[in-house]
Amino acid sequence: MFRQSRLWHSQNKSVALVPTMGALHEGHLSLIRLAKKKGDKIVVSIFVNPTQFGPNEDYNSYPRTLNEDFKKCSELGVDAVFLPSVSAMYPDNSSTYVNEEILSQHLCGARRKGHFRGVCTIVLKLFNICAPDIAVFGQKDAQQSLIISQMVRDLNIPVKIIIAPIKREKDGLAMSSRNKYLLPEERRQATAIYNGLQKIKKWQNDNLSVAQVRRKLIRFIQREKDIRIDYVSIVNINTLSEVSRPKKGDKLLIAVAVFFNKARLIDNIVIKW
Ligand code: PAF
Repeated sequence: MFRQSRLWHSQNKSVALVPTMGALHEGHLSLIRLAKKKGDKIVVSIFVNPTQFGPNEDYNSYPRTLNEDFKKCSELGVDAVFLPSVSAMYPDNSSTYVNEEILSQHLCGARRKGHFRGVCTIVLKLFNICAPDIAVFGQKDAQQSLIISQMVRDLNIPVKIIIAPIKREKDGLAMSSRNKYLLPEERRQATAIYNGLQKIKKWQNDNLSVAQVRRKLIRFIQREKDIRIDYVSIVNINTLSEVSRPKKGDKLLIAVAVFFNKARLIDNIVIKW
């Protein structure tokens, strides 16, 4: 992969990487389409990265749909699919990891210990191997995108990070490989997440405080009986720390993580206070 990327560079072609864990859906395809606009050669990596899953998480059951993924990549004119094995990425004697230490303390990082250490480590490895000029990530994983941008700055990695908007189903549910886990009734209830986020504008117009907006959002989502809230947080978009009294015009990230049984879904919107 590295040799191929170097060859493209020697031909003055830029390389855009879309890192994924496979089970490609329209959300991923929108990242690939954006990558095609930004780079000459497109690489999609497919690797279900064991180090970003906790011991009781869904590493083993994570959907793996390689044949369909290849088909989608080839239909979109992807130039290379990079598909490493676990033993190639993590040989037995590997002992170096990348840790971002501040942004990772919040939101998903606080609930999924070690998750972003796994993400940063694999993304840096993918950057080193695929040598992209550009890499595209999705805003759905807002914290991940922020942490990777931070890592790129902190470690002087010569890759431009592009964040693509969230792709949603017709009823607003953010597209995710984990939506596959939902039973039909859970899938129906899952629309409460985005419907709740959509209500925030109105609550803001009613002059509610951040704490009141948060409580309303929690109550709205909890009306659905199978949803268990992991967190609902209103945070500063740059630091990811909780805000209580934002100034008018401050940009805030409203981030939600919920469980349906074992399926964990996340979503977010960015608002101006
Ligand atoms: O967002 C994902 O699918 C993964 O976290 C990533 C960036 C491919 C790293 O494994």
